[in-house]
Amino acid sequence: MEKQSQRLGMGIVGVGFVGPHHVDAVRRLGFVDIVAVAASSEESAHRKAGQIGARKSYANYEALISDPDVQVVHVATPNNLHYPVISAALAKGKHVISDKPLAATAAESRQLAEQAKRANVVTAVTFNYRGNPLVQQARHAITKGEIGQPHFLHGYYLQDWLIKDTDYSWRLDPAKGGGSSALGDIGSHWCDLAQHMTGLRITHVLGDATTVIPHRKKPRISREAFQAAAGAADLETIDVTVEDLASVLVRFDNGAKGCFTAGQVCAGHKNDLVLEVCGSKASILWRQEHQNELWIGRRDKANELLQKDPSLIDSEVRGYAHLPGGHQEAWADAFCNLMRDIYGFIAAGKRPESGQSQVFASFEEAAYVNRIVEAVLESAKENRWAKV
Ligand SMILES: NC(=O)c1ccc[n+]([C@@H]2O[C@H](COP(=O)([O-])OP(=O)(O)OC[C@H]3O[C@@H](n4cnc5c(N)ncnc54)[C@H](O)[C@@H]3O)[C@@H](O)[C@H]2O)c1
Repeated sequence: MEKQSQRLGMGIVGVGFVGPHHVDAVRRLGFVDIVAVAASSEESAHRKAGQIGARKSYANYEALISDPDVQVVHVATPNNLHYPVISAALAKGKHVISDKPLAATAAESRQLAEQAKRANVVTAVTFNYRGNPLVQQARHAITKGEIGQPHFLHGYYLQDWLIKDTDYSWRLDPAKGGGSSALGDIGSHWCDLAQHMTGLRITHVLGDATTVIPHRKKPRISREAFQAAAGAADLETIDVTVEDLASVLVRFDNGAKGCFTAGQVCAGHKNDLVLEVCGSKASILWRQEHQNELWIGRRDKANELLQKDPSLIDSEVRGYAHLPGGHQEAWADAFCNLMRDIYGFIAAGKRPESGQSQVFASFEEAAYVNRIVEAVLESAKENRWAKV
């Protein structure tokens, strides 16, 4: 990346599991100052600011947003807070980088997408798998017609961190996570990736949603994502209404068909996102847990396994790979690639359009993903296909 003459100040609201990864990623860019942290209390904000090396700490997001040294607001709170934080930041004319989902409901996401257009600032949602070099390689190959016309997309996003009834996250509480758990939390990544990689849109869905663990033991004190359970005395039993497993048939706007499963109760699958796109000439498959390899399936010659290697991938996407072949790049590197693109836009004074012109997800695209998730829930509830 070119050296930036202008420095930019960022502030982050919510520093639990993913927040520190936002900070690590922007720190690597070299021209972003980690100005401030807002947490749920003064004590926690102060502690978190110390942990991540931010200059200031605030007990509420309003104070962080009002800080003139903060030009870019990152949002990494539970989903229910995305709407109020983002809306307030846009009202102050700040650039916003929100973690996914954009908001807890499709209606809120829609409103944020409209507010963002009026605010004329850079807005982005961290559907971070877009930042993987081989995802961009696959996208580029598909755009160039190398696999022919896509006619079938399939895959899954499976995890196992909610398989025990003692596992608990705010994602299981509709007041904090929204009306969906597995679909909104990780199915959303699959839908975004399928659309981004192919340029297609999911138009119709037929969903089957299940709550495999309908009663869970919730800790009386809050726990951040992926933290282990507390002792039995600190737990209360609660009913769970949101799905922890869902399978979906999908139709795309070019007539292609597809299916995927999102589940957080599948033992052995840690962060197992798989997407395969089958076209009229070839198939292409990317798996997050083996993200330095891209499988290309062929009918009339041998299949290929392309290793992530800057010298072997297309020149147009080479900027997403930073290490030579055999030097594995990973989740955090892809996250940093996304931040490089977003901050590059901000530094260059550009404004993102919705659609395929930039690699990072716009609010418009993220709002559409919220809508897909709600359409799946609608479909599952009413036992019929739903239009997105
Ligand atoms: N892109 C990804 O791959 C990815 C991965 C994980 C999480 N996420 C998303 O990031 C967001 C955060 O998820 P997480 O896993 O880090 O959750 P988490 O529970 O680990 O962290 C959330 C943090 O927000 C803080 N918080 C709560 N109320 C607050 C308030 N009023 N003001 C400021 N901070 C407050 C909590 O104390 C906690 O530290 C969610 O929207 C989630 O969907 C995205």
